[in-house]
Amino acid sequence: MLKEKNVLLGVTASIAAYKATYIVRLLKKLGASVRVIQTEASLDFVSPLVLSTLSENKVIYKVIDKQTNEWNSHVELGLWADYMIIAPATAKSISKMAEGNCDNQLIATYLSSKCPVYFAPAMDLDMYKHPSTKTNIKKLQKFGNKLIPVNNGELASGLVGEGRMAEPEEIIDFIIHDITKNKELFGKNCLVTAGPTHEKIDPVRYIGNRSSGKMGLAIANELAEKGAKVTLVMGPSQLSSNHPNINQINVISAEEMYSQVKSVFSNSDISVFSAAVSDYKPSESYSEKLKKEKENWDIALEKNKDILKDMSLRKKVNQLVVGFALETENEKENAISKLKKKNLDFIVLNSTRDKGATFEVDTNKISIIEKDLTITDFELKEKTEVAKDIVSVILKKINI
Ligand code: CTP
Repeated sequence: MLKEKNVLLGVTASIAAYKATYIVRLLKKLGASVRVIQTEASLDFVSPLVLSTLSENKVIYKVIDKQTNEWNSHVELGLWADYMIIAPATAKSISKMAEGNCDNQLIATYLSSKCPVYFAPAMDLDMYKHPSTKTNIKKLQKFGNKLIPVNNGELASGLVGEGRMAEPEEIIDFIIHDITKNKELFGKNCLVTAGPTHEKIDPVRYIGNRSSGKMGLAIANELAEKGAKVTLVMGPSQLSSNHPNINQINVISAEEMYSQVKSVFSNSDISVFSAAVSDYKPSESYSEKLKKEKENWDIALEKNKDILKDMSLRKKVNQLVVGFALETENEKENAISKLKKKNLDFIVLNSTRDKGATFEVDTNKISIIEKDLTITDFELKEKTEVAKDIVSVILKKINI
């Protein structure tokens, strides 16, 4: 959501300015490019050195940088930003924003920006209550700027009341909610299984399927980008998501995957089962490593539960369930049989016979087979693009 987005953080002179460091950290963690502009007065509250180190960009607080003799263009910065956040926003800066009083680089950039602007007031309770502050805030909202509500709590003055700046996590959550709320899948809960499962033989050996988890992760990301809240149940994989709308639950075995899936399935509007679940597990597993004393070793295996099939049996009419079929021969025939057997809305077929497709690569080549047996064949693509194709069929199925 904020990945690869340009976020401009404006910092004004309040005790809460130290929290700007956490805001930068959170934004960076979400993959945003961050640039910071400070008012000169805020330099007493938080050092530009800290903010430039965390943001990995030079902090701007003057129109002209005397050291380099460079002009810091507020126009260029304003146009660069996809989002602007002013946090903390003091009563004085709010008043300047309301009046268009651009006597510093921050306000000049604010006036030049064309992107959504969020502001998080921070001030003492009486200042916050004052009619002039209330009027200025209303004016800013009327201009389309988005107010991040203050908290009621301890203030720097020692008083307790309204005026405390929202916490950095609250600020980020507010922005993400705001960005997401108009997206197609906002309000939908999704479940995605991904990766392989490992079925323990002993502490160092296991049985498993080949899978990196890349396809499932790409689907989870795409659903989350469209505004859904996603639970990603991921088997053993190096991969993880930092998307704020994804809750990743890591599991090892099919049994663990089953129990995590079962706990969220009934609440999921859309479920995509892309995991390469091991169909069998050793009937017995050992707590110590087995020594290679025997010449031959027969391992008795027993069937794991079919997670997808089991969930499909519980599926209600308003739930959409998507499965995968990985085949090596008679691909379409086998996939159609799985589609029917597992009561799916559609199935995504990939074949090991297609070069550059299936596991451990960044690309995939799929066919989508729908309930009415319509088959759509797609070209070989990056898995991120394949995820878009799959999600667009999901959107079509739920009539969006
Ligand atoms: N699946 C599952 N639980 C299992 C096995 C498979 O949830 N124990 C899901 C997979 O995530 C996939 C679909 O079922 O969405 C089909 O998986 P696949 O391995 O292709 O087929 P299987 O049903 O296991 O049949 P087979 O191995 O005989 O091809």
